[in-house]
Amino acid sequence: MRPIWRCSVKPAFLEMDADAPRVPVRFAGEVLMLPEGANLAAALLAAGVTVLRQTPVSGAPRAPYCMMGACFDCLVEVDGVVRQACMMEVAEGLEIARPHEGGTHDAL
Ligand code: FES
Repeated sequence: MRPIWRCSVKPAFLEMDADAPRVPVRFAGEVLMLPEGANLAAALLAAGVTVLRQTPVSGAPRAPYCMMGACFDCLVEVDGVVRQACMMEVAEGLEIARPHEGGTHDAL
């Protein structure tokens, strides 16, 4: 079955600088070693994270799409604040969660 979401960046083709120092971040409870200073959305995709959030109404999965701050499909909760992952850099100790992880909301 084809996924109903799409991403403009193919995770399998992302390469990270092999020499970049890796720092631990926690995403959805899992510790990931990501290259310090890399674009957070790209680093998560390269690490195999393909669903950054789910829509609050239908629960549909979303992943980074535009990589330039326009689509908001890369929203994540970082240290308790909802932010665009494509507008952030990887830093040691980030605590990242999927926003609205507690469940879907009633339709507006
Ligand atoms: S990927 Fe579109 S706003 Fe981040």
